[in-house]
Amino acid sequence: MLSSKLTSFLFLITFVLCSQNVFAAYERVGHACVSSENFTSNDPYDTNMKELLSYLVYETPSTGFGMGSKGEGQNRAYGSALCRADVPQVNCTDCLVQAINDIGSLCWPNKGAVAWYKYCQLKYSSSDHFGVIDHSNWHVNYGAENVSEPTSFSQKTTNLLSSLAEEASMSSKMSAIGNVELYGSEKLYGLVQCTRDLSSMACKECLTRSISALPNCCSGKKSVRIYGGSCDIRHVAL
Ligand SMILES: *[C@@H]1O[C@H](CO)[C@@H](O)[C@H](O)[C@H]1NC(C)=O
Ligand SMILES: *[C@@H]1O[C@H](CO)[C@@H](O)[C@H](O)[C@H]1NC(C)=O
Ligand SMILES: *[C@@H]1O[C@H](CO)[C@@H](O)[C@H](O)[C@H]1NC(C)=O
Repeated sequence: MLSSKLTSFLFLITFVLCSQNVFAAYERVGHACVSSENFTSNDPYDTNMKELLSYLVYETPSTGFGMGSKGEGQNRAYGSALCRADVPQVNCTDCLVQAINDIGSLCWPNKGAVAWYKYCQLKYSSSDHFGVIDHSNWHVNYGAENVSEPTSFSQKTTNLLSSLAEEASMSSKMSAIGNVELYGSEKLYGLVQCTRDLSSMACKECLTRSISALPNCCSGKKSVRIYGGSCDIRHVAL
């Protein structure tokens, strides 16, 4: 899956970028540990997982999504990476390079982790999670500002995000971005996306579930992001 040349290259860019500490793209918003098993440093799982993460940094930016597995049996590591749909490739790369350096220590010695960053998200685990909606891991983030008319705002938000969810589930990149007019000169912007291991139907189900959580978590909030293990939604009024 991975040549030693590539590994050296990634090590080099990782080293250069980190030593300069120039990361606007890097900002962890949350994380969760997802496995019931542990591993030890430098055991075969550790090696497989690290190689897999390097592969994902290399593989993901051109399309915004990457997935893969490495190793055999109980040492096999599964992982996927997703960049925010509106982020240029260079910032996707920056985010993932930072993410692979950050994620390893978050859950150690747990065999699985998912972490969400401003421009990307990364997940690895010792079990095959591809194609299955992750309902367990999510992170909610909202701005302090409230809207003046929560009821109609909530309706507009649900309508916009639901139509984007429909669009995303049918699109090859499993993402959709759109906006609608609000009061005065304000607009409501929405973005939804799924990890592309999901089927079209599962993507829609994942997004629909997150959208239906909005009234409970974030009623009246102008700007909301719900990050999930399999799908993300966000809206902001500007
Ligand atoms: C995994 O490691 C954690 C932290 O060291 C420990 O609390 C936990 O009991 C371990 N779990 C297993 C299944 O060994
Ligand atoms: C994306 O990366 C470029 C090049 O490093 C940088 O100039 C730009 O500010 C980044 N964009 C964002 C939105 O962070
Ligand atoms: C928004 O509403 C919440 C709950 O009513 C309140 O605690 C908070 O201070 C409000 N935020 C602003 C910026 O006014």
